[in-house]
Amino acid sequence: MKRKKVTVVGSGNVGATAAQRIVDQDLADVVLIDIIEGVPQGKALDLLQSGPVEGYDFSLIGTNDYKDTADSDAVIITAGLPRKPGMSRDDLLLKNYEIVKSVTEQIAKHSPNAILIVVSNPLDAMVQTAFKVSGFPKNRVIGMAGVLDSARFRTFIAMELKVSVENIHAFVLGGHGDTMVPLPRYSTVCGIPITELLPKEKIDALVKRTASGGAEIVGLLKTGSAYYAPSAASVEMLEAIFKDKKKILPCAAYLEGEYGIHGLYVGVPVKLGKNGVEEIIQIKLTTEEDAALKKSAAAVKELVEIIKV
Ligand code: NAI
Ligand code: 2OP
Repeated sequence: MKRKKVTVVGSGNVGATAAQRIVDQDLADVVLIDIIEGVPQGKALDLLQSGPVEGYDFSLIGTNDYKDTADSDAVIITAGLPRKPGMSRDDLLLKNYEIVKSVTEQIAKHSPNAILIVVSNPLDAMVQTAFKVSGFPKNRVIGMAGVLDSARFRTFIAMELKVSVENIHAFVLGGHGDTMVPLPRYSTVCGIPITELLPKEKIDALVKRTASGGAEIVGLLKTGSAYYAPSAASVEMLEAIFKDKKKILPCAAYLEGEYGIHGLYVGVPVKLGKNGVEEIIQIKLTTEEDAALKKSAAAVKELVEIIKV
């Protein structure tokens, strides 16, 4: 069986940790690429040398040359600047737009059949950039945010109820920003909605902590943003695609009328399988939830209009 090949663009915190998770989970050979010389090569060699101990024999190479990325089956784009304390994700817009645009041009040229998982922030505007610049079909360009935001919500629910995170499902929709939309009605413990288990004030506090979950970590780290959970979330999406799991996960997907939103990437539940986004799942929203999703989409649209993608 031919091994899968994944390129991870950006060998910083999220990229290198994603590469580690990919080989640890026996998913694919990895090419790490960055503009900084030496760092992707050094990290790839270090990861390769973990193979004898960890028990994997995947190929891992680091490079600054897109020729080495040719014919990747999937590409995880993490290139760009992360947030520093006091910065919003949107402060990264113009710089990361230039980076994601140039990266996508190279990837589309060398791996025209790849599935792209975009991580760089501001996420929804960056995945829209990758979609427009690559010219790839919408099912092959997906943004990672909802899996991370839902994982944060699940963690906080588990901490509050003192139950295993494995018992908890949660959905966070909308853009990956302050307007994200955690959905308590669809967040359950063994199938029981948390609205039946926790008082409203408590749920509101968990929702608020989820929406500022990224900033909480930036405030603690001071030198960058989260990367363990973001890399885990990206690799969960990759695994669902490579194993054709048909797994339903909240991801940024290109909407053309679904949820009443047109021509925009926004976080919604999707089915991930070997073709990427195989279906956009439309769940029923209350008037309030629908208004929150539309407000979040409007915030994404503002950014997309600035960079004209
Ligand atoms: P980092 O600073 O550790 O790594 C970024 C890497 O990108 C650096 O090594 C840098 O040299 C590289 N890079 C910059 N320009 C490049 C180019 N043109 N080509 C190739 N590589 C280039 O940052 P970190 O923590 O890994 O975060 C990466 C991005 O992911 C940031 O924009 C961050 O905001 C975003 N992020 C998004 C999340 C999400 O939920 N969507 C979660 C966590 C991070
Ligand atoms: C996060 O949510 C910074 O977007 C990144 O941690």
